[in-house]
Amino acid sequence: GPGLVVAIDGTSGSGKSSTSRGVATRLGLRYLDTGAMFRAMTWWMLQHGVDVHDPAAVAARVEEPSIASGTDPQAPTIAVDDADVAGPIRSDAVNAAVSPVSAVPAVRSRLLRLQREVIAAAGDGIVVEGRDIGSVVAPDAPVKVYLSADPAARAARRAAEVGAADVAATRESLLARDRIDSGRATAPLVMADGAVHIDTTPYSLDEVIGLVVDLVEAVE
Ligand code: C5P
Repeated sequence: GPGLVVAIDGTSGSGKSSTSRGVATRLGLRYLDTGAMFRAMTWWMLQHGVDVHDPAAVAARVEEPSIASGTDPQAPTIAVDDADVAGPIRSDAVNAAVSPVSAVPAVRSRLLRLQREVIAAAGDGIVVEGRDIGSVVAPDAPVKVYLSADPAARAARRAAEVGAADVAATRESLLARDRIDSGRATAPLVMADGAVHIDTTPYSLDEVIGLVVDLVEAVE
């Protein structure tokens, strides 16, 4: 069986990745960053000159790239057609295109298939982070968390992570993605039924990891 699934959803820059990796490391679980899969698909579309604002053009190419996620929480990897794309998927070009690409239903169904395969192969269990994990990808997950944070805190954190000088531009980019991700028809960002909401603004990373570990230990 798939073992324990911990579903972590939330807005852009709410600390999902650091929290998810920390929880997986502490509990000895695997880790899947589904955002990296959507970014990898988007990177491939841009590389192949696909108009990312034309849903039919995106849908027509969706089966072509091979996308592989490595699930070690201490060294997660993402590859497209066997090439490491961890760097390029964090570019401004991908940041600007990923939400429109992720709104295309054919993109979601292709990646949902891959996500379910990774989860099924995860042994003892896996922490899965994204936007629709608790609602669509793993609705039966025994632990669901929804992370949010104040936009100013998110922008400052993300700008520091990527070395961006322009915190205001980073903030606008995060909020633009949130608007599209929350407003799309297919698998929008929502707080899933049964999710525990944690506003991370006042907490350190270690404190948030501790809160989520406590939730997991309470169901085990
Ligand atoms: O998590 P991250 O910010 O890297 O995700 C990038 C984008 O991928 C999101 O803004 C969203 O458009 C898309 N995404 C999604 N569903 C997921 C994970 C990410 O639509 N489960």
